Amino acid sequence: MTETLHETRLVVNGVAHTVRVPARRLLADCLRRDLGLTGTHLGCEHGVCGACTVLVDGAPMRSCLMFAVSADGAEITTTEGCRALDGGLGPVQRAFHEQHGMQCGFCTPGFVMTCTAMIERAQRPDQDVVADELSGHLCRCTGYRNIRVAAEQALDERFGTREAQ
Ligand code: FES
Ligand code: FES
Repeated sequence: MTETLHETRLVVNGVAHTVRVPARRLLADCLRRDLGLTGTHLGCEHGVCGACTVLVDGAPMRSCLMFAVSADGAEITTTEGCRALDGGLGPVQRAFHEQHGMQCGFCTPGFVMTCTAMIERAQRPDQDVVADELSGHLCRCTGYRNIRVAAEQALDERFGTREAQ
């Protein structure tokens, strides 16, 4: 039996795409396979590790828990969309690089997206909120300290240092 395909419109990193996907195609698989955006990583594939996090209409979502058809009409941001205008590292990516917030890098795109959502807020989240948001991601390498430092660097650049507030 031929699988039914569903026309799905996604705006990914500012570029409009129309894909034809099976009803059960995960958003993560759609991004990686159909659109070639392999910066979004798949780890656990059941909503635990956070590696697959992308922004859907500005909110962090686990793309392994969402069907592509459910995102029809949405604006998606992936780590590829977090680059600077000149194509270099964007502020969150640079903070992770400068603060050694990664080792193997498998978890990093997910952390980058959660931090990106935090710097796009109207107000700086307090340290407990930052810790809580980062706790939704698993990293098997770094021990998390440098990830916290990187997140705070990105927040400092966006909002000014905590002392100055
Ligand atoms: S791959 Fe989606 S949460 Fe782990
Ligand atoms: S840097 Fe390797 S899992 Fe986080």
